[in-house]
Amino acid sequence: MYRSHNCGELRITHRGQSVTLSGWVQISRDLGGLTFVDLRDRYGITQVVFNMDDNADLCEQARKLGREFVIKVTGIVNERSSKNPNRPTGDIEIIASSLTVLNASKVPPFTIENETDGGEDIRMHYRYLDIRRAPVQQNLIFRSQLAIQSRKYLSDLGFVEVETPVLIKSTPEGARDFVVPSRMNPGEFYALPQSPQTFKQILMVAGMDKYFQIVKCFRDEDLRADRQPEFTQIDCEMSFVTQEDILNTFEGLTKHAFNALKNIELPDFPRMSYDDAMEKYGSDKPDLRFGMEFIDITDRAKGYDFPVFDNSEYTVAIVAKGAADQFSNKDIKNLTEWMQRPQVGAKGLVYIKYLPEGEVKSSVGKFYSDDVLNDWKTQAFNAETGDMVLVLTGEKEKTQKQMNVLRLEMGDRLGLIKEGDFKPLWVVDFPLLEWDEESERFHAMHHPFTSPKKADMDRMLNGDHETMKSLRADAYDLVINGSEIGGGSIRIHDRELQSKNFDLLGFTKEEAEDQFGFLLGAFEYGAPPHGGIAFGFDRLCAVMNGQSSIRDFIAFPKNTSGRDVMINSPSPIAKEQLEELSIDLDIKE
Ligand code: AMO
Repeated sequence: MYRSHNCGELRITHRGQSVTLSGWVQISRDLGGLTFVDLRDRYGITQVVFNMDDNADLCEQARKLGREFVIKVTGIVNERSSKNPNRPTGDIEIIASSLTVLNASKVPPFTIENETDGGEDIRMHYRYLDIRRAPVQQNLIFRSQLAIQSRKYLSDLGFVEVETPVLIKSTPEGARDFVVPSRMNPGEFYALPQSPQTFKQILMVAGMDKYFQIVKCFRDEDLRADRQPEFTQIDCEMSFVTQEDILNTFEGLTKHAFNALKNIELPDFPRMSYDDAMEKYGSDKPDLRFGMEFIDITDRAKGYDFPVFDNSEYTVAIVAKGAADQFSNKDIKNLTEWMQRPQVGAKGLVYIKYLPEGEVKSSVGKFYSDDVLNDWKTQAFNAETGDMVLVLTGEKEKTQKQMNVLRLEMGDRLGLIKEGDFKPLWVVDFPLLEWDEESERFHAMHHPFTSPKKADMDRMLNGDHETMKSLRADAYDLVINGSEIGGGSIRIHDRELQSKNFDLLGFTKEEAEDQFGFLLGAFEYGAPPHGGIAFGFDRLCAVMNGQSSIRDFIAFPKNTSGRDVMINSPSPIAKEQLEELSIDLDIKE
């Protein structure tokens, strides 16, 4: 027998019992007559004591234990004289009577503790050691529980989990595909799914009614903290539903998950149109944990002989509460430079500080008198003495994006984001199409299967080019704390409308037929009205735990270059394998 209990289980009520534990040596301390070993497994840490007076040989053996040795210990549970209130097992210790070394260990390259000294690279290289750390284990356990709770909620509602293939054909979710060569079909390739989008729609045509799948998706795009090339979705589709049905069902899923796993009752989620989100926050995924809404002062700022504002398409302000004396001239200079980085691209940053006794300090004080700025204080900004207003100006879309960056930064710097605060939001009424100036063509804002709103269908079939820019979709995103957790839409289920959409997106008839003929064909055999959504499962895990990086919730993630450094992948393959796949790699040295 390896163990009678685990290392997190024993309490004072077990006093006097003979027990056997197995686990890893977290630390061994030799205090002369006594050797203390902290024995660790997934469940916790238990202190084991070896006493020289009781058993000198055993104590000698224990002295030789190194960190991460795997051992089995038998002994009696004893009440500790000095208790450790920070550990669930801290009231007891095991007085050891036997010790077996099950396996030795090299000295690990970083400490296997909650706060480790190991950098990201080395931890990923030795991921099996990293996963021994409690915070990583907790994340993986959380992930498992979230999957179980999601399955429970959805299957209770009659959803059926259906697996869709991984070796498929390109799906147009907007990223590049990962491709797999086919040995049996020389020169031809499968694509790994960016999502099971077309399959889940086919399942609706096939009458499955309510589908879900917790499923791996693959997208060859640049990595960020919230993006991995291989990630997981809770993917769903439903027949005979409206947008309202889908939002309610998945708001329910989110509430259930928070309730079951965080013991948090979320209130009903607010909804905001895409246009409002852009006007108020300059983002389609606003973080509602703090206010600082945009104030459009384009018109108000004109007419004071300040050419920058006079000639601007859009001038926008935010109020940083109580920040007037927190930001020195040097701080503002640094903030301005930070906003001028190429990644953000602001031309400049204007500030207005409202000081006591009506005094105003501003970088545009030359053009705007204190009286004018004090009028704005009450009439436009709803600001108070001690507040600082920050203003950006320029081309509307760009300036909105820049102000979004500034707002998030100020929210962070002013400590407005409270830990444990969750602010979900449905963003609805997305545009159907996005005009891309560079390629001079439309892109689908969500994906090409998204339906325009019913009221816009006629305009879509018969309208001119300009009309297409104003079409709205039955598309929605779930945003929590500024992170896009999920997205979905009501789909087109009519062949003619779907063809028109492909047409608008620049597909020729042949291309549309070649890539999506199977779906268009299925639409001719009684496709029911349908719609769905997919949650980013890794993102949901991270956001529910107040973290921004999804990597910590994936057992074996890729690094920022898309590499798995533990197995060293991707890697070259043998010439014979290439030949078998009919791939002629003519790579010049
Ligand atoms: P979408 O492309 O919006 O929709 O993806 C759904 C959700 O998946 C998550 N996500 C990612 N998570 C980690 N790494 C990535 N690279 C990554 N890309 C996306 C996000 C996102 O909201 N088929 C549609 C869904 C539908 O219409 O039903 C789709 O995939 O949280």
